[in-house]
Amino acid sequence: MNIAIRYYSQTGNTKKLAEAIAAELGVEAKDVSHPLEEKTDILFLCNSVYWAGIDKKVKRFVNTNALKIGTLVNVSTAALIESTYKQMKTVAAEAGVTLSDQEFHCRGKFKALHASHPDEADLKAVREFARSVLGREA
Ligand SMILES: Cc1cc2nc3c(=O)[nH]c(=O)nc-3n(C[C@H](O)[C@H](O)[C@H](O)COP(=O)(O)O)c2cc1C
Repeated sequence: MNIAIRYYSQTGNTKKLAEAIAAELGVEAKDVSHPLEEKTDILFLCNSVYWAGIDKKVKRFVNTNALKIGTLVNVSTAALIESTYKQMKTVAAEAGVTLSDQEFHCRGKFKALHASHPDEADLKAVREFARSVLGREA
C-alpha cells in the first residue's frame, strides 16, 4: 500500500502529529509545498484552523494533487473547534477526492490555551490511529 503524509503547520503543533505518524509508519512527513510524487492509496493530511478556516495552501494542495489521492485521512489540531473534518469534507468534495470517515483530532497550543498540546498522550494516540487506519483501509 502506498502511503503519504503531508502537513501544514504555522506554529508547529500539527507538524508534531505528522512526525509521530511518520515515525510509526516509516514514511517521511513533508509539508504541503511538496506535491505527491505518485498515486497514493492513503494520504494523511495534517492540518489546522486559522481564524476559522483551513489555510488556502492546504486547499490548493488537495486541488492540485487530487488525481493522486486514493483516500484522504484528515488529521487536525485546533484550539477551539472540535476538528477540521467538516471543512475538509467540503474541500475534498470540491476536488472530487474521497475522504475517509476515520479522522484524528486533538487540541493544539494557542497563546495561553492548551499549553502542552499535542502532548505525549496525543502523540501516542495519533500513532495508534495511524496504525488502525492501515488495518481498516487495507
Ligand atoms: C493565526 C491563528 C489563528 C487561529 N484561529 C483559530 C480559530 O479560529 N479556531 C480555533 O479553534 N483555533 C484557532 N487557532 C489555534 C490553532 O488552530 C492551534 O493552535 C493549532 O494547533 C495550530 O496548529 P499549528 O501549530 O500546526 O499551526 C489559531 C491559531 C493561530 C496561530
